Amino acid sequence: MKPADPQGLDGLARLARQARRRAFAPFSRFKVGAALRTRTGEVVTGCNVENASYGLTLCAERVAVFKAVSEGIRGFEAIAVVADSRRLTPPCGPCRQILWEFCGDITVHMADLHGRTRTMRLSELLPFPFDRSNL
Ligand code: THU
Repeated sequence: MKPADPQGLDGLARLARQARRRAFAPFSRFKVGAALRTRTGEVVTGCNVENASYGLTLCAERVAVFKAVSEGIRGFEAIAVVADSRRLTPPCGPCRQILWEFCGDITVHMADLHGRTRTMRLSELLPFPFDRSNL
């Protein structure tokens, strides 16, 4: 029997998996989906959107954060990130910074398409962060 999921992270990963199907990744072919949940249970999803100039590519995590912020949605508690890779995919460095500044020390739930998962705090992925408190 599967252990209980009181934090609802499996459900969040399912939404990230669905968002991943909409990834626009013709250059890397590396599709990523993200699902960002607020403390009130609202979920905003994102997928990576690539660009022929490569550098303008947006990661799934940042798409989810910017979609939410642009809709006036704040107060985040968890993000699920789903990719199909040999190793679980953690948020890249720039995404860790953006997540920290807009979400604080949220739960980061990484999953693949085969049921492998790992859950960490953002402060583990980004120790000693730079943010507005340093300014
Ligand atoms: N990517 C994400 O969307 N999120 C991550 O956490 C890692 C990388 C995307 C960016 C690019 O479209 C592709 O994956 C390969 O780097």
